[in-house]
Amino acid sequence: MRGLDLEKRMMRWFAVPLFTGSVLGATALRAQDSCTACHGDRAMAASLASDSALAALLFVDPAAYRASVHGQLGFTCTLCHQGISDYPHGPVVPVDCAACHTQAGQELAQSVHGRPHPATGANPATCADCHTGHQIFRSSDPRSTVNRLTQFEGCARCHSDAERMRRFGQEDTATVQSYLTSVHGRGLLEKGLTIAPVCTDCHGERGTGAHEILPTSDSASPMSRARVVDTCARCHGGIKAAYDQSVHGAMFAGGNPDVPTCIECHTEHAVQPVASAASSVYPTHIAQTCTACHDREDLNDRYGLPTERRRTYLGSFHGIALEAGQLTVANCESCHGSHRILPSTDTASSVHPANLQTTCGSCHPGIGAGVAEGRVHIASVREDINLFAYGVQWLYYLLIAGIVLFAVSMISLDQYRHWVVDPRRRRPSHG
Ligand code: HEC
Ligand code: HEC
Ligand code: HEC
Ligand code: HEC
Ligand code: HEC
Ligand code: HEC
Ligand code: HEC
Ligand code: HEC
Ligand code: HEC
Ligand code: HEC
Ligand code: HEC
Repeated sequence: MRGLDLEKRMMRWFAVPLFTGSVLGATALRAQDSCTACHGDRAMAASLASDSALAALLFVDPAAYRASVHGQLGFTCTLCHQGISDYPHGPVVPVDCAACHTQAGQELAQSVHGRPHPATGANPATCADCHTGHQIFRSSDPRSTVNRLTQFEGCARCHSDAERMRRFGQEDTATVQSYLTSVHGRGLLEKGLTIAPVCTDCHGERGTGAHEILPTSDSASPMSRARVVDTCARCHGGIKAAYDQSVHGAMFAGGNPDVPTCIECHTEHAVQPVASAASSVYPTHIAQTCTACHDREDLNDRYGLPTERRRTYLGSFHGIALEAGQLTVANCESCHGSHRILPSTDTASSVHPANLQTTCGSCHPGIGAGVAEGRVHIASVREDINLFAYGVQWLYYLLIAGIVLFAVSMISLDQYRHWVVDPRRRRPSHG
């Protein structure tokens, strides 16, 4: 076995001739029978092994093997384990699945899993790492380790193992866990939506995904920046149609590296339902998601865009109400839209002056056309309307009105007394 020294191997082979001679007879065994005589019996396998871990490996359950796709085909052990002719047998040559499965073999050899890793010189994954050696079933069979519903478990054996992945320079071991709690993972496992994406739907080519997985940094990967929008659109085609019309989508199509693709707004593995409080586009998170770019000075300089979108939003009536927990107020999405975002100068934009009455009117029915004149991104409500000046102004109005009223009433009272109450004083007697 791997890692066993020669001495131990010799010790074990010592028992073998005895065994073969007395129990089975030395010759004329069909290969299948000869293998299971030693490997198909748990007690025998244990007696051949130095420890329980090795015993477990040396034991191959004949019934389980017979149920597998190759067992069903009546394959003998030696179709895979070649070069064993006499017993005790020497170290066996590694199984070459690709000898029969040439296409899978060729594809894997080009993929991130099937080519030697520069740091270790080893191939990250073999056929058996994903398929096992003896419990192989068709992928449509629920017992298969690569069935849609259980595929992630096989990936997790490596991708959730920090120590193993570190050897290959991979630090992120949260991918599988993020996926399991995402709208996609839950859709698959809780809602039973078999159309929800599994790992290989996103990371592989359509149909034959698993063997062609590439690093996401490789532009040929379906999850590379160049291709991610089209890959999400395999299922979300309608969203892509809207995105393509947006300023973001149009610039993306032109190869711009600064605009968002689906994953900058939704994340990659942790995609949440948009109505979930955990979603990156939920009212309480969306300002952060958009302003991760729109408050970047370098970006605003480069495109001549106005700055401080977050502060000017949070300082507005809507922002203040949102901070106070009112989720029904306008957020970036309510005014700008989500996928078909356009500059306010574009007549088709929801924030073009001509369309503001409709946009604001969806929440403020009856709002006047004058809304187009008001500023929306204001650093603070007070700064815009200037409540203090507003108040002082009204105070003056009241004061002036009061003074005028006071003066008028004083004069009237005086005249009243003069003409009505005491008319004699008007005509003073002279005699
Ligand atoms: C007489 C008992 C016996 C028979 C029969 C036998 N084996 Fe083994 N086999 C062993 C022992 C003992 C070992 C452990 C050798 C070691 O320690 O490396 C072993 C190891 C193996 C290994 C693991 C070797 C490695 O280097 O990883 C494979 C695979 C294997 N046997 C396949 C077969 C196949 C296939 C057959 C039938 C063609 C067969 N064996 C027949 C006793 C037997
Ligand atoms: C479809 C090909 C295939 C067939 C058929 C097959 N094996 Fe294997 N076997 C493998 C592979 C692959 C491995 C290595 C597993 C691994 O690396 O985890 C293996 C490993 C083993 C081992 C060593 C244990 C280990 O995990 O290293 C033994 C023993 C063994 N096989 C015995 C048998 C016996 C007995 C049969 C027939 C009943 C058989 N094999 C049929 C593919 C096959
Ligand atoms: C990284 C894991 C992984 C590795 C490594 C891997 N496979 Fe697969 N294989 C899968 C998955 C997952 C499927 C299921 C089909 C799919 O989702 O694309 C599959 C499907 C298959 C199929 C059946 C095609 C089908 O549609 O059912 C064969 C045959 C196959 N693999 C053989 C191999 C061989 C041979 C190797 C080694 C050269 C290998 N695989 C290596 C994961 C892997
Ligand atoms: C001696 C040739 C041979 C070897 C070696 C072999 N297989 Fe197969 N395998 C077959 C044949 C034949 C089928 C049945 C194909 C069919 O019916 O579509 C099959 C079926 C499969 C299937 C199911 C295919 C499907 O369409 O669902 C998988 C998965 C698979 N093999 C994986 C492996 C792996 C992994 C290895 C190595 C551990 C291996 N095979 C070694 C010949 C071989
Ligand atoms: C909805 C599509 C989607 C699904 C499903 C998906 N991924 Fe990813 N994955 C991505 C995207 C997009 C990236 C690239 C992110 C980037 O560009 O940085 C990625 C990156 C990765 C990476 C590269 C390093 C890292 O962690 O960022 C690994 C490894 C990975 N995914 C494994 C998996 C595994 C394992 C599964 C299944 C449990 C899975 N992915 C499911 C979309 C997906
Ligand atoms: C036997 C261990 C093993 C298994 C099983 C395995 N992987 Fe990997 N995978 C690796 C290693 C190691 C790397 C890193 C290789 C590298 O960086 O060159 C890797 C790389 C990747 C990458 C590219 C990461 C990047 O840098 O962009 C993706 C995507 C990926 N695997 C997805 C999967 C999926 C999906 C499955 C299950 C179908 C799976 N892996 C099964 C070991 C494994
Ligand atoms: C600029 C950020 C942004 C980009 C880029 C983006 N989205 Fe969205 N997406 C959103 C927002 C915000 C919502 C929430 C809309 C709502 O609440 O009605 C959303 C909602 C969704 C929904 C749910 C539909 C709904 O309205 O309930 C899906 C599905 C979706 N996006 C997928 C995608 C896909 C696929 C892409 C890439 C083609 C993408 N998104 C690109 C921001 C974005
Ligand atoms: C294989 C098909 C498939 C692929 C590929 C896919 N999705 Fe999905 N997605 C779904 C399904 C199905 C649902 C609905 C799950 C549910 O409702 O439980 C969904 C749900 C969503 C939602 C939540 C929608 C809502 O109403 O809240 C978002 C956001 C989303 N996907 C984004 C993406 C992004 C981003 C990508 C690419 C990285 C992507 N999806 C790739 C099938 C897919
Ligand atoms: C990954 C970075 C990024 C994210 C995230 C992002 N944007 Fe953009 N956005 C850009 C870039 C770059 C432009 C192009 C600027 C240009 O050409 O004027 C742009 C353009 C715009 C424009 C048009 C500006 C103009 O006048 O040309 C609006 C409006 C806009 N984004 C709103 C949003 C909203 C709302 C969100 C969140 C739902 C968002 N953006 C998320 C990078 C981003
Ligand atoms: C109440 C509606 C409303 C909300 C909420 C809102 N905006 Fe705006 N936004 C507008 C209007 C109207 C304009 C154009 C006039 C102006 O600048 O005031 C604009 C202008 C912009 C611009 C300048 C580019 C252009 O098209 O003129 C960007 C970038 C922008 N908003 C991003 C955001 C982001 C990011 C958020 C969330 C933090 C957000 N907006 C929230 C209505 C809104
Ligand atoms: C998504 C729904 C929504 C949209 C779209 C929306 N608002 Fe509002 N707005 C609200 C809600 C709810 C309040 C009440 C906040 C509070 O309790 O103070 C509010 C409050 C206001 C206020 C504070 C005075 C008042 O009536 O309480 C002004 C001014 C305002 N909105 C203007 C606008 C303008 C201008 C637009 C378009 C550019 C707009 N709103 C778009 C939901 C919306």
